[in-house]
Parts: sequence; structure tokens; C-alpha cells
Amino acid sequence: MTQMETILVTGGAGYIGSHTCVALLEAGYDVVVVDNLSNGSEHAVTEAAAIAGRSIAFHCLDVADAEALDAVFGAHPIDGVIHFAGLKAVGESVADPLRYFRVNLDTSLTLAERMAAHGVKRLVFSSSATVYSPAASVPLHEDGAIGPTNPYGDTKEMIERILTAAGHADPELAVALLRYFNPVGAHESGRIGEDPAGIPNNLMPFIMQVAVGKLAELSVYGDDYDTPDGTCIRDYIHVVDLARGHVAALRHLAETQGVHTWNLGTGRGTSVFEMIAAVERAVGYPIRRRVVGRRAGDQPVSCADVSRAERDLGWRAERTVDNMCSDHWHWQRTHPDGFPD
Ligand code: UD1
Repeated sequence: MTQMETILVTGGAGYIGSHTCVALLEAGYDVVVVDNLSNGSEHAVTEAAAIAGRSIAFHCLDVADAEALDAVFGAHPIDGVIHFAGLKAVGESVADPLRYFRVNLDTSLTLAERMAAHGVKRLVFSSSATVYSPAASVPLHEDGAIGPTNPYGDTKEMIERILTAAGHADPELAVALLRYFNPVGAHESGRIGEDPAGIPNNLMPFIMQVAVGKLAELSVYGDDYDTPDGTCIRDYIHVVDLARGHVAALRHLAETQGVHTWNLGTGRGTSVFEMIAAVERAVGYPIRRRVVGRRAGDQPVSCADVSRAERDLGWRAERTVDNMCSDHWHWQRTHPDGFPD
């Protein structure tokens, strides 16, 4: 990169967004964040900038607000966009599907339209391994069967299709659809990390709140699966590796066109019991847990085939499960209540 490029990060005040801001700044990009702070914190943006020793331009706005977005494109020389902004809780999406379709689709359509209006041709989209069908064979390959099982996953699949069609219509467009596996961990500084609203739904933030004494015990959702220890297996990826994956995708898009799909995972599976043991190593004491019934919709095993990302992007996740747990714990014990309100 001869000259600093400017990247617009939607949802940059969130968990993955703020870590990606750090990775972008450290790679030499200028960063503009837009976020409506519905599930993010302005502190995350401030801290991300401080970690990198650079500044971030922050605009508190809704990405579905075309006029507000136009003003941002007018004020900054945007070269590319990383789009995180959206709702992401599976259970909530089942209870209130219309809100999920409205917010996630409106946000993405408005962004794509405003990018087109301002001649911005590079887009990295935050998708999810949740788009794969339960019938897809594991390890999950990008060409595997698609078939999400909840409205949140449906929105991710629909946005992938919308962006794919936009890419076909405009040959100058370069789009990366990044399918994340299970992001955990935090920046090694402990200054930014996951700050879930209310009681966490996902395994790692829940275990961490048990570790810090905010929740009494972890419910393990089933130990009678057809896996070696009976608990479900997931491909956990350190959020800093995931963030680096976005920078790699952005670099790749600078040299190519068209729509590309990449899994971002480690290719290694970890069971719930193995994850609890790893957290116990990080915190130094036992985590109270109780095995309860299965959670509806859980697949026994989810694990990425990461060969395409390794080949195309020259990227590979480097951090271990122990790194994920110790970094997440560093953040959690220093921020038991997350960011200040
Ligand atoms: C879940 C979503 C997925 C979403 C992802 C976001 C479902 C079915 N899937 O993935 O669509 O993209 O979060 O990160 O909701 N577990 C427990 N106790 C807990 C919490 C989780 O035992 O309190 C187990 C689960 O049964 C699962 C594993 O831990 O086997 C991981 O769960 P979680 O962190 O929620 O991730 P996913 O279910 O993989």
C-alpha cells in the first residue's frame, strides 16, 4: 500500500468490529467507524484507537439512515467497507423475526446502495458459519450445502445472496463474504473484549461470567451427543486472528474483483468439556457446571475447512484455545461489568 487507504467499519464499536479496527490501524489503514451503539460501546472505539496509538473517526448513526451515511461518504475518502452492523442473537431472532429481517436487510441494502452511489467498490461482509445446512458435511467447506435454521441465519444467507447479485451486476465490485466460526478471546492488552448485554447466550462469555462470580454455574447443554466426550464440538477462533482475517481479505480484494466466500476458523474442534478445562487452566480454579438437556437447534459438530482462506488470503489462525481463554479472562477479570455505561 503506497498511500494510506481509508476503511469504513460499520458496527466498529462492537466485539469483532473493535478488534478489526485495531488490526486495520496496525496495518496502516485509516479507519472511520459508524455504529448506532445498540450493542456496542464508544469506549471500544476509543480503546481500539489507543491500543494502536492512532485515531479513529467515529460517527454515531444508523447504517439504515441513507442521508447520514451519505454525509460520512462525503466527509471521508472511503476506499473500502467492512460491514459488521446488524443484530446477532439467534434466540431473539426466533422470537422477533420481523425485526431481524428489517434491521439486517435494511442496513445491508442501504450500505450497498450508498457505496454504489459514491463509487466505493470494495466490501467485506461479516457472515456466519450458521448459513450452512445441518446436512452439510464436516469439516464445512465454502461450497457445502446452505440452509440456515433460524431467522438470524436466514438474514446472513439473504445478504450473501444480495451482495452476490450486486457483484454480478457490477463487475468492478469486489466482495468478500466471511463465514465466521465461533469467535472468542480478546485483545491481549485486555482493553477491549466481548461485552454482551444481559445474560450471555454463548458459551465463552457465559463461562467467563461464572468465573468472575456474576453467574452461579454453567449449564452444559447435553453430554449425550455422538462425540468423544458427549458434548458438542465447535471451531473456536481467537477474535484477533479473526480480525487479521479481515485485513487479509481486504488486501486480497484490492487485487481482484467478483464475489468470494471464505471460512474463517481454525479447522480444529474443541468440545464444551475441553473448553471448560481450558478456562479452568486460565483462571486457576474450577468452574461450576451442571449437565442439563440439549439446547434446541444445536449441531453436534461444527468445524471449518480453512484451506481456501489459507490458499487465497495467505492467512491462518495462529492462536491456541489456551490463548483464547487467557486473553478472554484478562479482559473479563479487569472488566467484570464490561465497558462503563
Ligand atoms: C451460536 C448460534 C450461531 C451463532 C453463534 C454466534 C445457536 C444454535 N447457534 O453458535 O448461529 O452464529 O452462536 O457466536 O444458537 N453451550 C453450553 N452452555 C451454554 C452455552 C453454550 O453448553 O450456556 C454449548 C452449546 O450447546 C454449544 C457450544 O456450547 O454446543 C457453543 O455454543 P455457542 O457459544 O452458543 O455457539 P454456537 O451454538 O456454536
